[in-house]
Amino acid sequence: MKAKLVVLVVGFIIGVGVISSCSKKEQKVTEVPADNMIIIGFSQVGAESDWRIANTKSMKSALSEANGFHLIFADAQQKQDNQIKAIRDFIAQEVDVIAIAPATETGWDVVLQEAKAASIPVIIVDRMIKVSDESLYTCWIGSDFENEGREAANWLIQYWKESGKDKEDQNIVILQGTIGSTAQIGRSQGFNEAIKAYSNVHVLAEQSGEFTQAKGQEVMESLIKQYDDIDVVVAQNDNMAFGAIGALKKVGKNPGKDIIVISFDAVKAAFTSMIEGEMNISVECNPLHGPRVAELAKNIMKGVAVNKIQYMEERVYTQENALTELPNRQY
Ligand code: AHR
Repeated sequence: MKAKLVVLVVGFIIGVGVISSCSKKEQKVTEVPADNMIIIGFSQVGAESDWRIANTKSMKSALSEANGFHLIFADAQQKQDNQIKAIRDFIAQEVDVIAIAPATETGWDVVLQEAKAASIPVIIVDRMIKVSDESLYTCWIGSDFENEGREAANWLIQYWKESGKDKEDQNIVILQGTIGSTAQIGRSQGFNEAIKAYSNVHVLAEQSGEFTQAKGQEVMESLIKQYDDIDVVVAQNDNMAFGAIGALKKVGKNPGKDIIVISFDAVKAAFTSMIEGEMNISVECNPLHGPRVAELAKNIMKGVAVNKIQYMEERVYTQENALTELPNRQY
């Protein structure tokens, strides 16, 4: 950590070299970290959803100076290219650890080989990556997205049974997240696998709303124009579900009643929506990775072996338990 500190300070003083090319980095080195601090670069996907904002908050508060970290944070604005640039900057700055919340699963081999060549351990957070060599990252912490999709489908199948609708034709539209992200791939696989045994269940359309509320609303408005017989909307995150609910209300539909709304994340606003009867279920995706990442980074720096894969604990929330759970929600 000390050697890296020297690099940072020298770069700042002479105003040239790897850390002098951008004013943001110069700002960072003015806050010179103490030599016992872990310098960690975190490449975040963006700020596309309430979930992501909660994730950033959790990471920033756990990777704090008070907790022994000097954090260099980079927001990629949902672009993998920006993430690759940020990782190269972290390598140039000789950080101790790199953490990445990857936008999509593929396309990481080259930049992670560069991190490995520089002997910088890499922690993958939230979504997974697909690489040719598993030693390119030290560990991953995130959600079982496929299980989340399965949980959503199981709830729906049970709901149809309990309401005597399990023999009727059912039409579903799916608002997917960012295509190629583990959250999109896993939730789609888990959900579609679980419903495929039911011949009365039809998926009319699957279209990406990019995990944002605005795009979710836009896609839903277009689906409403194409299909007049939608029974269920599956939005792969809460923000797209809020957009879809807005689109349904605009045309006089009753989301949560005429049309079932299934969602993922379980952010605070989803609880309000379930209490108001507009969203039926939100399968939790836990964004509070910060404390676990901090612990992993400390162990890695001490040379303590860490588990390669770690899953977050998650639950399913519905209109039945939303009111009781709302006061406990942290995000
Ligand atoms: O990867 C986690 C997903 O990304 C969350 O479901 C979504 O809200 C976020 O943007």
